Amino acid sequence: MRLGFLGTGEITAAMVRGLKGQGHTILVSPRNAAMAAGLAAEVAEVTIAPNEEVVAGSDVVFLCLLARVAAEVLPGLPFRADQRIISVMVDAPIAKLQRLCAPATDIVLTIPLPPIAQGGCPLPVYPASPVLDALFGARNLILPQPSEAALNAHLGVSALCSPILDQILTAADWLAGFTGNPAAAEAYVAAMIRGYLPERATEGELAGALQKLSTEGGLNATLRAAMAPAKADLHRGLDGFRARLGLAEGRSEE
Ligand SMILES: NC(=O)c1ccc[n+]([C@@H]2O[C@H](COP(=O)([O-])OP(=O)(O)OC[C@H]3O[C@@H](n4cnc5c(N)ncnc54)[C@H](OP(=O)(O)O)[C@@H]3O)[C@@H](O)[C@H]2O)c1
Repeated sequence: MRLGFLGTGEITAAMVRGLKGQGHTILVSPRNAAMAAGLAAEVAEVTIAPNEEVVAGSDVVFLCLLARVAAEVLPGLPFRADQRIISVMVDAPIAKLQRLCAPATDIVLTIPLPPIAQGGCPLPVYPASPVLDALFGARNLILPQPSEAALNAHLGVSALCSPILDQILTAADWLAGFTGNPAAAEAYVAAMIRGYLPERATEGELAGALQKLSTEGGLNATLRAAMAPAKADLHRGLDGFRARLGLAEGRSEE
């Protein structure tokens, strides 16, 4: 496939690395210049081209800009009606992208995360996309969503990675205070958490694991009780995204 990436930042770099060696031609835009040059040196399929040429020379165009930049840049580009557009951008609803990318109408939203470079990344998508399946389905977990709101709710939850990593690092730092070995402490906490996370969790699996960590008076239950207020904080933080992500009040499935 002829693939084009507008906006050569962190998430483009991860996707391009994940596509390496699969026989696609890949055009990336020249910004960020250092990132684009690094990708071109690292991935043989990559050519750097101006935004206009990225669009003109691609069957599938990935929109990987910040949304405010996209609103300025996209309307001047030579999109075609037969093109497939895959947007990874926060704050860019499909209706808006249809205006910005006219006459292209085949527009899907997805949420790649940096681990897509290696594979094993969950990829919620709306609407379902045979092109995304073909490009990333073999090595990642494609999760088609029933609505744009459902896709956007995944965007909200994807922000959980940051506070969880923050907690992991806080615990590793606490541990290193006693062992004097920060690298080993980080490796221990990361491996411990990873051990509890199946690649494809089935319903109830995580709740079952939590149940096994609930012995009254045990260290796990004691620490969880000490951190109970964080649960309400998490709900409040996620609910704070509702207006921005176009999510209705209440739970959408109730
Ligand atoms: N990173 C993630 O984990 C993640 C996950 C899901 C979704 N997203 C979304 O993906 C999008 C990109 O995120 P990112 O983390 O990759 O951001 P980023 O690293 O800041 O990448 C954005 C890129 O756009 C470039 N750019 C700016 N103006 C441009 C123009 N006129 N033409 C072409 N390129 C231009 C920037 O170049 P300069 O540096 O030269 O300005 C930068 O390299 C955002 O909408 C974000 O919400 C990110």
